[in-house]
Amino acid sequence: MDALGATQRRGFGQTLRRDLWWVQPVVVFLGLSAFVVYATWAALQGDHYRFGPYLSPFYSPELFGDPLHAWLGAKPSWYPGWLIFSPAIFILWAPGGFRLTCYYYRGAYYKAFWADPPSCSVGEPRQRYRGERSFPLILQNVHRYFLYLALVFLVILAHDAWDAMWFDGKFGIGVGTLVLTTNVILLGGYTLGCHSLRHLVGGFMDRLSRSPVRRQAYACVSCLNAAHMKWAWMSLFWVAFSDLYVRLCAMGVWKDWRIL
Ligand code: FES
Repeated sequence: MDALGATQRRGFGQTLRRDLWWVQPVVVFLGLSAFVVYATWAALQGDHYRFGPYLSPFYSPELFGDPLHAWLGAKPSWYPGWLIFSPAIFILWAPGGFRLTCYYYRGAYYKAFWADPPSCSVGEPRQRYRGERSFPLILQNVHRYFLYLALVFLVILAHDAWDAMWFDGKFGIGVGTLVLTTNVILLGGYTLGCHSLRHLVGGFMDRLSRSPVRRQAYACVSCLNAAHMKWAWMSLFWVAFSDLYVRLCAMGVWKDWRIL
């Protein structure tokens, strides 16, 4: 009997494992649920997303919104009147899609949200394995296209971090500057360690040794990729915290301390 056959015969949750295998899916379930609830709430507020030179990453780039800052001006006339307006609605599908289709997150939320399987070598609640070769999960293959968008977002957020160093035209550093800069660094570690990027920069080649530049790029991406899960969680937590920081400063709840 092969290993797969043995797994298929187990009932839901049955396993020979003696470790606390259920802890990780429970933590993933709670962590991702908390993020989705907060991110959805924050994205629908449409307010308190800017404080001085700081812009919440949930609202960047601001395509439509504040006429003074938005790239394309105020709320467009074609926007449906019955729909809540928030600048975040126009953009969050891109980083959201990037995370949703990430190879790491897929493995994590398949286990945590629909127990497919709950963990390695643990019985699952269904008999048939269809994998990602049929609809709808075959759509996960769009990940490489979300990567292109994520790289653009990274540049924009890096520019936001630069903007966060200028207070009324004068250079300075506040706690918010550090928060937004850390956000770019963590998102950079996550995005630049993407499995699709690893393939793109050199993984597709048969003989990487013939291209020194690609070999170096592949080594860099592989280095980040080795800790992809850690980058994924740190950047997820920090992007939400960055929004919270800007939001609470804009609401007058927190004071932004100036360091320089
Ligand atoms: S695989 Fe995780 S971001 Fe691409």
